[in-house]
Amino acid sequence: MKRFLIASLASLIIGAQAPAGLGRTEAAEKDTPVRSPLRDEMHTLNAVFQKVVTAVSLGDGEAVAGALHSMHGKEERTAEALHSGAVRPPKNADKLEEFERLDRKFHRELGLLASAARGNDRQRMLTLTKRLLDGCVECHSAFRR
Ligand code: HEC
Repeated sequence: MKRFLIASLASLIIGAQAPAGLGRTEAAEKDTPVRSPLRDEMHTLNAVFQKVVTAVSLGDGEAVAGALHSMHGKEERTAEALHSGAVRPPKNADKLEEFERLDRKFHRELGLLASAARGNDRQRMLTLTKRLLDGCVECHSAFRR
């Protein structure tokens, strides 16, 4: 559990090798063609979250857990990137503490979703998935241009 949280936190901040996203994402890329580890990670997260939405809507805990698992494996390097300035949110970049707070909250909830998925607790998966979506929007409205 703890390992998962760390892995996914690392993953959000550092991630690379993201698969191409969907149309909406590609459109966003056209407007802002510069790649960044944060944006790459967003593409990964976006793909994962879409699978999560499908799996939660079908009440399939195993598929939810499987989708989340694919965010593993990019560990470490993490906070360093933020602190070294390698990663900067495009808006309100001076409010890094708030960014980190939202990021931590988001990843804590991802971890809770992973446990709910392993227990195939459908109601809890639904509640957490809605909360996570709020988390995407909350962070974007503060930090995405
Ligand atoms: C803690 C902050 C934070 C959270 C939580 C977050 N994002 Fe993001 N996201 C960002 C920032 C900042 C950008 C803008 C990155 C840039 O343009 O450099 C972004 C950009 C994106 C993009 C556009 C990428 C592009 O190429 O322009 C997508 C898609 C995206 N996020 C999906 C998601 C989804 C889906 C979730 C929730 C499941 C989510 N994000 C949660 C911070 C966050």
